[in-house]
Amino acid sequence: MSIRQLLAGMAVAITLAASAATPITTTVPQRPAGQTHLVGFATAPMDSVRIGVIGLGMRGYSAVERLLHVPGAVVKAVCDIDSARVASVEQMLVKNGHAQVPGYYGSEEAWKQLCDRPDIDLVYIVTDWKHHTPMALYAMEQGKHTAIEVPAAMNLDEIWALINMAESKRLHCMMLENCIYDFFELNTLNMAQQGLFGEVLHTEGSYIHNLEEFWPYYYNNWRMDYNREHRGDVYPTHGIGPACQLLDIHRGDRMTTLVAMDTKPVNGPAYIERTTGQAPESYANGDHTMTMIRTAGGKTIHIQHDVVTPRPYSRMYQLTGTKGFANKYPVEGYAFVPEQIAADSVPDHENLSAHGFISPEQQAALVEKYKHPLIRSIGEEAKKVGGHGGMDYIMDYRLVYCLLNGLPLDMDVYDLAEWCSLIPLSAISIENGSAPVEVPDFTRGAWNEVHGYRHAFAPER
Ligand SMILES: NC(=O)c1ccc[n+]([C@@H]2O[C@H](COP(=O)([O-])OP(=O)(O)OC[C@H]3O[C@@H](n4cnc5c(N)ncnc54)[C@H](O)[C@@H]3O)[C@@H](O)[C@H]2O)c1
Repeated sequence: MSIRQLLAGMAVAITLAASAATPITTTVPQRPAGQTHLVGFATAPMDSVRIGVIGLGMRGYSAVERLLHVPGAVVKAVCDIDSARVASVEQMLVKNGHAQVPGYYGSEEAWKQLCDRPDIDLVYIVTDWKHHTPMALYAMEQGKHTAIEVPAAMNLDEIWALINMAESKRLHCMMLENCIYDFFELNTLNMAQQGLFGEVLHTEGSYIHNLEEFWPYYYNNWRMDYNREHRGDVYPTHGIGPACQLLDIHRGDRMTTLVAMDTKPVNGPAYIERTTGQAPESYANGDHTMTMIRTAGGKTIHIQHDVVTPRPYSRMYQLTGTKGFANKYPVEGYAFVPEQIAADSVPDHENLSAHGFISPEQQAALVEKYKHPLIRSIGEEAKKVGGHGGMDYIMDYRLVYCLLNGLPLDMDVYDLAEWCSLIPLSAISIENGSAPVEVPDFTRGAWNEVHGYRHAFAPER
């Protein structure tokens, strides 16, 4: 064969490879007639936010505890299928000087009675993943706003159902993603919004948390069962939430395609064999899963999931900009080209170099200067109330504050959709040889109407 023939053969092979890379698409249901999008959506101010909490396990119990500290929040009713969990929350309420509240329990559907109550504005859902969407849909049908623990939805049918219900009922449907409120994340977001990193090009996030000590405590083993049955990144929201806010996703940019890859499952099935004496017949979730995403604006995101290997906890949280860099795990640090930083804002400015992290003294000065307004106003209170160091309190505070003041919430139903969509879309990619998969425009046309992600604040009184 001549060189010319060989080269011609190669060209064919490359063309074939290129056509095989056409992204896999999923169905985007048409927006029903008369229904409009919810970007920037707000409801009338409220005097108080009356809340019903469903799911009082490890996370739900502490959610009720926190809500007692949030100005304007009133816990009106609680529910868990397990009567002992309701009793334990009732005891905690009384111990904290709070009146007892109606508690629902005892049947798979007792939670519907809580949603039916006319004296509740917001249903706060903290159950296992499979119950989140059915509960939220029913609550919205009864006219209630909903706040749902992470991940709020596990597949595309659930995601589109939540969007359609929220749009048609004109109700808030927010996912309770707390990691966007951590201190380093908020301060870094503020620096990014002030242009300190230049143009943010790439962000990273992850959920790397060995759950070995927690597996036995999930109700009915729901979490291990889910991992056993599903491939893909089943818990992406702690990583993707902060990454998307830095990139103004559906506020001027949008995710367009992703590819995902996973390792084989080893430690997951080994855990089951070690603790039950029997190897599982099948185990779907790879020990380590990676997803890479591209945006319409030419940015990239890298997300990882790993809940079974012996690694230190990490949400990665990394930002690469044209003029600077931020990194949270394992060491919090920043690097900048020197011209980005005003000479009088950090000590030892003449020795700044983007080849290394700025010094702890420079970092302290910069963090003080660019402290996020939320940290400045309620950071100390948040640390006192707690919840993952305070970020959980800031999340609850903001949800209630925005409802009280009639402001758009920090996270809308499209954030919920985009962040949860990594679950089904990463699985589709992996099951098709890491093929590119299109990320739907969940706003159905409204992703470029707002430019730049911002928290809403009420005018000073
Ligand atoms: N944002 C975070 O940092 C964070 C941390 C932990 C958990 N979570 C999320 O919180 C949720 C709950 O997790 P967890 O660790 O508390 O699990 P858990 O198993 O301790 O709690 C789940 C609770 O739901 C209750 N439940 C199940 N079916 C019910 C039904 N039909 N009606 C009423 N109650 C029902 C169970 O009895 C249990 O009390 C999950 O979505 C999880 O991903 C989030």
